[in-house]
Amino acid sequence: MRVFVTGASGNVGAALVPELLTAGHTVVGLARSDAAAEIVRSRGGLVVRGALDDLDLLSAAARAADGVIHLAFEHDEQHSGNLVAAAASDLQAVQAIGAALGGSGKPFVSTNATCAFALAGFEGLLTEHDTLTAGWRIEAENEVIGLAEHGVRSSVIRLPPTVHGEGEFGLASVLVQTASAAGVSGYLGNGSNVWPSADMRDVAVLYRLALESAVAGSRLHAVAEPGISLLEIAALIGRHLAIPVRSIAAEDSERHFRHVNAFVGLDNPTSSLVTSEALGWKPAYPGFLADFDHESNFEVE
Ligand SMILES: NC(=O)c1ccc[n+]([C@@H]2O[C@H](COP(=O)([O-])OP(=O)(O)OC[C@H]3O[C@@H](n4cnc5c(N)ncnc54)[C@H](OP(=O)(O)O)[C@@H]3O)[C@@H](O)[C@H]2O)c1
Repeated sequence: MRVFVTGASGNVGAALVPELLTAGHTVVGLARSDAAAEIVRSRGGLVVRGALDDLDLLSAAARAADGVIHLAFEHDEQHSGNLVAAAASDLQAVQAIGAALGGSGKPFVSTNATCAFALAGFEGLLTEHDTLTAGWRIEAENEVIGLAEHGVRSSVIRLPPTVHGEGEFGLASVLVQTASAAGVSGYLGNGSNVWPSADMRDVAVLYRLALESAVAGSRLHAVAEPGISLLEIAALIGRHLAIPVRSIAAEDSERHFRHVNAFVGLDNPTSSLVTSEALGWKPAYPGFLADFDHESNFEVE
């Protein structure tokens, strides 16, 4: 398949592009800069130059492809505190791609975050059957799932906050930076809240399986481990940075955790049973704590 991939230059793209190429697909990656284009080419992909707000270009690239995988997300906006703008740009992009693919029967695999549900107030074990009508990144997920009614083989993969591999650990990498800056490795309350996790190579396999065979309208979870406590993560960071590990008072939380403040207290236990049964997805790589527990992951800039 000729697959148009947004975010092919990002962390998940590092595992996804080779996974697709090895399976015999061709990757056409969106790149908004020379640097991103060079990364996509170095991973073996072809390049289409443009940004997420080039909606005509997204539509044309989607029409020219046999399928679309949408990974790009404006994390620069998110990290500067503008979560709403990042989600609005995502929604516009999936609307443009979805409209272009309408009636084609082509696959469109998009991305959400499991923690978007906890952020919107969902409590307890999150399963693929759980849905919300509104919330950060939720409208975009529902928009993509709704495309199943318009002749698109659409699916959404919800990613855990700590997709790990190649020295990247998602939000846990940001916690290393905030702990180093503060001289304290922090957590909130008693640190018993959990984040799910998965190795990015397992995540890449799931995107490929969804592209190739997910049923239209599938919600899927790229979750290998249902939940790792924030206390365990903070303890590992504290040990490697040789700094104290302690609970951060609520009034100091924003100053300590900076742009991960909105996420650090979330309790986000997540199952992937439905995904495994639907697509035969079996995570095969080592777990988060074993991968994280290496000195090289704690070299702070
Ligand atoms: N990694 C995780 O732990 C994790 C957890 C939950 C959800 N997710 C979701 O998974 C997806 C992929 O994440 P990731 O970790 O690969 O992110 P990443 O490493 O930050 O990469 C983001 C990608 O999006 C591209 N991008 C950002 N803004 C763009 C714009 N305006 N126009 C065009 N391209 C743009 C980036 O291009 P440049 O190379 O030019 O920057 C890059 O290729 C995102 O939706 C993310 O929110 C990831």
